[in-house]
Amino acid sequence: MSKRKSRPQKRRRRSIIAFEMIRLDRTAGEPLHEQLYRQIRDELKSGRFSDASSRLPSSRAFANERGISRSTVRLAISKLHAEGYLLSKRGSGTFVANLLPETFLTADQPKTFQSIQRPFRISDRVRAIPDARVGNQFDLGATGAGAGVSLVPSIPAVDEFPIAIWERLRAQILAKKGVNLLRYASNRGDADLRKAIAAYLCDFRAARCHPDQIVIVAGMQQAMLMSAMAVLNPGQAAWIEDPCYQQITRVLTLAGVKIVPKPLDNQGIVIARAPKEPLPRIIYVTPSHQFPLGVTMSLKRRTGLLDFARAHNAFVFEDDYDTEFRFTGPPLPSLQGIDNASRVIYAGTVSKILCPSLRLGYIVAPEPLIDPLVKIRSAMDQHSSPIDQATLARFITEGFFLSHIKRVRKIYAERRDFFIKQFNELLGDRFTLQVPEAGLNIVAWLKREEDFPMIRRITADIGVRPSALSFFCIQAKLKPAFVFGFAAWTPTQIRESLVKLASALRDPVNYGRQSR
Ligand SMILES: Cc1ncc(COP(=O)(O)O)c(C=O)c1O
Repeated sequence: MSKRKSRPQKRRRRSIIAFEMIRLDRTAGEPLHEQLYRQIRDELKSGRFSDASSRLPSSRAFANERGISRSTVRLAISKLHAEGYLLSKRGSGTFVANLLPETFLTADQPKTFQSIQRPFRISDRVRAIPDARVGNQFDLGATGAGAGVSLVPSIPAVDEFPIAIWERLRAQILAKKGVNLLRYASNRGDADLRKAIAAYLCDFRAARCHPDQIVIVAGMQQAMLMSAMAVLNPGQAAWIEDPCYQQITRVLTLAGVKIVPKPLDNQGIVIARAPKEPLPRIIYVTPSHQFPLGVTMSLKRRTGLLDFARAHNAFVFEDDYDTEFRFTGPPLPSLQGIDNASRVIYAGTVSKILCPSLRLGYIVAPEPLIDPLVKIRSAMDQHSSPIDQATLARFITEGFFLSHIKRVRKIYAERRDFFIKQFNELLGDRFTLQVPEAGLNIVAWLKREEDFPMIRRITADIGVRPSALSFFCIQAKLKPAFVFGFAAWTPTQIRESLVKLASALRDPVNYGRQSR
């Protein structure tokens, strides 16, 4: 046992609080009762008073002595009481607790500590995850976009997120549902949110689903991980688009799945099966707007894909991450809406529509997969934050969700037009833009392939950081290109970034000298 705990406390005859030690500052921002609480607590922690026979003066005596109100003294005393520093004895008064709360909270520091370094064994599963990054580079999330970096793909304008409205709804929800939001909650997700999402998808994505098919998840990545776990055994095959959203490759590797990259043409994923290619249990696609190339899957390819899935008893995972941001005409109906054989696992996320840090998304599961998915979530992390889920449900049902989508879609349309015009003016001699119908990114193909290493070096150096298209390729050998994001930056910032890039590219040698 530690010295601190075993040392017998000296009994004191006089009242335990020496009034003259208390210093209250009426001009300080900290309320008087907090100052009083803190000073008495520190005095008790100093060890001289933790004796059961030490009695506190009455609140009246205390208040008179220090010239403060009794209610100030009572507030301080009741907090000390609640935290376990004091105890009341009926008819005798208030005393210092025998053992202060710190006794139960603070571990003793080991007397000697010698670090022993041995090689660690890391699982094959982790080592297999394809990623060149190391250490704290992971802390910047999937995009690696730190402060001061611009034109990174896939980043929404989070500064447009209506924080004040969100906070108001959140406060209302907490006031109404109180402790019910603090308990472990449903593994399927908040019932109101599932209802709101089902209605939204049926109205706007031509989905055919009911709230019981909705499973709330922590974003697209978790949707993919859970779906892979539900339908694939380790080693079984998943077909995925190539190039592909890099997080999907990482997630499927984590799930121990065999990844079969499939090429794309101008209609979407090419589903023809090569000789000896393993048949898929799941096929990952982004039909509304392929990431990163931006192709919209044609209706013919959609029906072909569903026929193939049906014929081979496979599932199609439809990642519908940013359909809301279309700029040239209405979207095609979701695959989920035209699937009559329950082969489509539809997944959406609020990462692009609202903001990625909420970590909220949803799966529309074919009936036979609902229970397996819920079972997986219950074994994984139970559920997403009930407070955020309930707030999002209100945000949708009160119309703020749609209104936000309409508002930012307009902002993105303006930024996109501005980006295209400025880009062609400033960089049109080096790149050809491939303008997609939708989304937050634009692919720029190099006119001279040999420029690629130089452009890559310069973009990394100057913090104008489109991703190299090759970053998203698995086997695909595409001509060199960069994927630019435009949505998160104002026209002024877009212009500044493009001017910076264009002038660095005009003088790559001197630019290189200066930046060294
Ligand atoms: C194709 C695609 N799907 C989904 C997401 C979002 O995933 P999450 O919901 O895990 O943030 C992104 C983000 O960049 C993406 O590019």
